[in-house]
Amino acid sequence: MTTLILGGPGRSGSRVFDRLTVTAAPVRFASRRTGFDWDDRGTWATTVRGSTAAYVCFTPDLAFPGVPAKMEALGVLAAQAGLERLVLLSGRGEEGARASEAALRSGGVPTTVLRCSWFQQNFSEHFLSGPVRRGRLRLPAPDVPEAFVDLDDVADAAVLALTRPAPLDATYELSGPELLTFAQAAEILAEVCRRPVTFESVDVPTFVEDLAADGIPAQEAEPLAHLFTDILDGRNASLTDGIQVLLDRQPSSLQTYAQRTVEAGGWS
Ligand SMILES: NC(=O)c1ccc[n+]([C@@H]2O[C@H](COP(=O)([O-])OP(=O)(O)OC[C@H]3O[C@@H](n4cnc5c(N)ncnc54)[C@H](OP(=O)(O)O)[C@@H]3O)[C@@H](O)[C@H]2O)c1
Repeated sequence: MTTLILGGPGRSGSRVFDRLTVTAAPVRFASRRTGFDWDDRGTWATTVRGSTAAYVCFTPDLAFPGVPAKMEALGVLAAQAGLERLVLLSGRGEEGARASEAALRSGGVPTTVLRCSWFQQNFSEHFLSGPVRRGRLRLPAPDVPEAFVDLDDVADAAVLALTRPAPLDATYELSGPELLTFAQAAEILAEVCRRPVTFESVDVPTFVEDLAADGIPAQEAEPLAHLFTDILDGRNASLTDGIQVLLDRQPSSLQTYAQRTVEAGGWS
């Protein structure tokens, strides 16, 4: 039983990969550095062949236009290659992501969908790490709370779904344990980092300019900014029980994540 991690070197994929490696389960990862490219279907069949299960992490975002067609093709390929289960990383409240989930499932392979809230690690391993380090978060975010989830909890849930005896053909919504506005999140980060981290709500063009200054390409920054404003309308302003149901424990808080990040030398 070999598990394939599509997007293996990334933030979630590497966590899933490391956890499976520790259990000595046969696992291999795929990304552009192994010759697998989401933009080149000619690279998919050889990548998928020989696996019995796959963790599917699409980059840059499952909700972006054009992704459902890719997920449909992958679902068919996975069925033809004899995969017995898929675990798909998805986002809460995102219409585009819903279409991608359905498209992957249409291939007929039992699929666990993990619909996640905002990753806490966006503040330290992604586009908000520079702003936090500089002490100034500028986002097109209204005063609407979000249930930031820890990627380590997401990875634990993915590993459970990949390794439990029977596949789970089900969808789980994964959130953290508390609802926080971005302003409240900035206060927690400031307290844990012991230096100011301010929050300022800005419009989409300003946010896209800030992202460009941090090296995020416009073709990624613009849909990201619009996704931001779409989903921060209150639709995800609720807690979910996916982590408790799958892992039988409470999810990790933003404060705990921030303390761990500081102890590991993050934001220094
Ligand atoms: N950020 C959030 O708050 C959030 C919340 C909910 C859901 N999500 C979902 O999470 C997913 C992203 O997860 P992540 O943060 O773990 O991923 P990630 O760290 O952004 O990237 C995963 C890996 O994908 C590979 N990659 C990039 N472009 C590729 C391509 N064209 N073909 C093949 N591989 C490629 C990269 O490795 P190489 O450079 O080696 O190719 C990268 O290491 C998205 O689908 C998003 O919708 C995100």
